[in-house]
Amino acid sequence: MDMDKLVSLCKRRGFLFQSSEIYGGLNGFWDYGPLGVELKRNLKEAWWRDMVTGHDELSTPPGAPQAYEMVGLDCTIIMHPQVWKVSGHYDLFCDYMVDCRESKKRYRYDQVRGRWCEHDGKRAFITTMAEAGHEDEETLAAALKFFNLRSKKADELKWGEAYLPLPQVTELSQVLGPDAKTLGTLTEPREFNLMFPTTIGALAGEEGKAFLRPETAQGIFVNFKNVCDSTRVRVPFGIAQMGKSFRNEITPRNFTFRSREFEQMEIEFFCHPDSSREWYQYWRDRRMKWYTDLGLSSDRLQLREHHADELSHYSRGTADIEYAFPFLPPGEFGELEGIAHRGDFDLRSHMEGKLVAKDGKLEVELGADGKPRHRGSGKDLSYRDDVTNEKFVPHVIEPSAGADRGTLAFLCEAYTEDEAPDENGKMQSRVVMKFHPRLAPIKAAVFPLVKKDGLPEVAQEIYRGLKQQGLVAFYDEKGAVGRRYRRQDEAGTPYCITVDGQTLTDQTVTIRDRDTLEQTRVKVDDVVSEIQNRLR
Ligand code: GAP
Repeated sequence: MDMDKLVSLCKRRGFLFQSSEIYGGLNGFWDYGPLGVELKRNLKEAWWRDMVTGHDELSTPPGAPQAYEMVGLDCTIIMHPQVWKVSGHYDLFCDYMVDCRESKKRYRYDQVRGRWCEHDGKRAFITTMAEAGHEDEETLAAALKFFNLRSKKADELKWGEAYLPLPQVTELSQVLGPDAKTLGTLTEPREFNLMFPTTIGALAGEEGKAFLRPETAQGIFVNFKNVCDSTRVRVPFGIAQMGKSFRNEITPRNFTFRSREFEQMEIEFFCHPDSSREWYQYWRDRRMKWYTDLGLSSDRLQLREHHADELSHYSRGTADIEYAFPFLPPGEFGELEGIAHRGDFDLRSHMEGKLVAKDGKLEVELGADGKPRHRGSGKDLSYRDDVTNEKFVPHVIEPSAGADRGTLAFLCEAYTEDEAPDENGKMQSRVVMKFHPRLAPIKAAVFPLVKKDGLPEVAQEIYRGLKQQGLVAFYDEKGAVGRRYRRQDEAGTPYCITVDGQTLTDQTVTIRDRDTLEQTRVKVDDVVSEIQNRLR
């Protein structure tokens, strides 16, 4: 699938717009248009319903060690600054970046790639920010400019064997920055914290300094005790939260894939340490199935278990659910969701203080004065089982998904080009967004074939009937019916209802199925329930 076509459809049909576009846009920020907002809302509602409100806590789901409870939370975006010190984000949530003294641009160190190039005894490492597999055009143009050659002399350039990431190159003085004209303009790599700082109230300096949350997870950990005390939940149980998170990504890219403001859908699942491995397996498989049930093709989806050397110091296992996004080179996948076994790291940190790994164990990190570097709350966040009377710090399994990445994956998956007959029965090419009916922004469109003979009145009645049942419906009486079908195909509307001449004689209308193009006649009185059944 051609990503440019999807990006242009998203703008043309109102799925996604660049934020603040009339002022030139803001890199890494995106607005959802009238169709996009419904699509993303449907994805979040499907997640909330399937994980929280629709969860049956009386039965053991397939693959789960036992039945469990799920509850929700909605925490603030700005939290006590100590939360981020104790969680490790204050010290460790960093990317390395390099600045270019010439172009004044900033790049993520690990994303700059390049290739050695020689001409006439002169040698340079020509860099680019293009994705792996797409670098050649840019590096060739940069090399020709740098060596002052015309394109017909391109074969005089001697290229190194392979592209290398910048961190593998020690001679920074020989590096030509991605947007530079002279060598050696990139600075040494520096750490850059990805949290957005802000100020609370009128307090200047460190006292009023706070951060926009970089993940929703910490709000759940710091409320663990509140939830236990205010409900009757018993371990094992999960707390879910969805909401905005903010990361000052150095190089936001690939449409909404890496944004600076995005939404997460996170679960922290608290269980007994002895059964945590089983719960980890359960959540990996459960979350993978959720995506395929909603229509992501298993050919483009993979569950990738991290190698031991990829794991964070506290993690006892992490798996990523990844999707073969069309903007990635063939065979590469991008993360949609991570499922992590976090042990007791988070609850213990918020009790004792920021933890570090020492000799394979977690210990409170000490400052130069021998005191904890970042103090915990000092509150007891352990759990006492009221049946066994056992007291323990629960282990945590965290399925952490991105609502915007999910929406992007479903947009990519849905985009289809095929053919459908026009009103004269002639096959015409069409673009159709094949969303799962649960996700489709508009569930049904209603058309009177012509704007006379009482057809609009019947169509409007059907439209109101759909709305009364809470279904997002669309009424359209403008233009040729074939054009109206095509507009709905691009919006991904699964059903189009047409009121025609026959309606006046036998009180039936046609329902057209977006994917099979099949048209069936249904009684006007039954059309709303028929749509409801099909959506089910
Ligand atoms: N609490 C764990 C956590 O936040 P993460 O892997 O950093 O883990 C979880 O983020 C999910 O959030 C990712 O799988 C991705 O879907 C989404 N996400 C993270 N950074 C993002 C960004 N810059 N833009 C869009 N989505 C992002």
